[in-house]
Amino acid sequence: MIDLRSDTVTQPSDAMRAYMAQAPVGDDAYGEDESVNRLQDECKQLFQMEDALFVTSGMMANRLAFMSQTMPGDEVITEYSYHVNFFDSAPMAAIAGVVMNPYRTKDGILRRSDIEQALHSKQRYCAFAQPRLISIENSINGWAGKIFPFEILQDVHALTQEKGLRLHLDGARLFNAHLSTGIALQDYARYTDTLSVCFSKGLGAPYGSMLMGSRCTLDKARRYRLWLGGGVHQIGMQAAGAYYALQHHLAHLETDHRLARYLAKRLQAIPGVCLNSATVETNIVQFTVDRAIADADSFVQYCAAQGLLLFLWLPGIIRAVIHRPMTEQALDQAVSIIESGLKDLKNNGKNQN
Ligand SMILES: Cc1ncc(COP(=O)(O)O)c(C=O)c1O
Repeated sequence: MIDLRSDTVTQPSDAMRAYMAQAPVGDDAYGEDESVNRLQDECKQLFQMEDALFVTSGMMANRLAFMSQTMPGDEVITEYSYHVNFFDSAPMAAIAGVVMNPYRTKDGILRRSDIEQALHSKQRYCAFAQPRLISIENSINGWAGKIFPFEILQDVHALTQEKGLRLHLDGARLFNAHLSTGIALQDYARYTDTLSVCFSKGLGAPYGSMLMGSRCTLDKARRYRLWLGGGVHQIGMQAAGAYYALQHHLAHLETDHRLARYLAKRLQAIPGVCLNSATVETNIVQFTVDRAIADADSFVQYCAAQGLLLFLWLPGIIRAVIHRPMTEQALDQAVSIIESGLKDLKNNGKNQN
């Protein structure tokens, strides 16, 4: 089976498993897990942020970022397609108690002018939600791993400073953006109030995200992590998996990006597949198939039956995500399943007519 649904399906390698098994552990609820503390210190150093908190998942990191920088009833401005809104707006409302003000951009990039429009989209006297936090994403999952431009991040940050707002960066795939742009992790961090990264995406660890920010903000996040049942105990083995991934897998993301471009170029050449390979910036490829041949649903099901798992991202839009340890040979096989699938479905359609 070739699984291109997501980079969250990556399996820990034998070396990572062995490293995790020997990790020293302690009770992290008391702050005594040596492996967790080492990973948090490593991230503080890498990102040059004052404090870091190891949490279960990207969703928990984002939730804690929101809870520690807003009050129930406050408004968060974000882009419609960003994970915090698209997937996570219901729990954000139910648990963090915030009101989302999602702005639909044409290209997935939330700019100063969009935020200004969102800020002025309603009256702001006391009956209304008060905007408190801006949330952006890099790379942008819903836009095929597009990179959020650094100069726009700087500009959005400047706006939040002018308006007394806070800025959260959901960096579930920030390592991909960093590798692709060469911009230092600490430069990204400098222009955010809170920043989260995931170890369980392209880095290939089985568990965990890091939320970073000032000590004062993270003290609140630490408290809310407990409230949400995230006060785990001997979690050092998981932290060791994340530490191992940081040390050994980070540079490999370049290979994922190269293979994503390779896949996109090959797919682009198949009649019936529509995509522009020039839009592939990191490890995600999105494409559509000619509706006259097959609807995307039956096409994805057909591929699964042939041993290729793809993800139907939005109606009609299919996603393929490259993750370790993918090879050109496996992608050639994926391409041939896609190519023969389109031919078969086209012929089936003709026979039925
Ligand atoms: C941009 C982004 N943020 C957050 C998450 C949530 O991460 P997790 O699945 O670890 O909760 C994802 C998951 O794919 C994501 O793509």
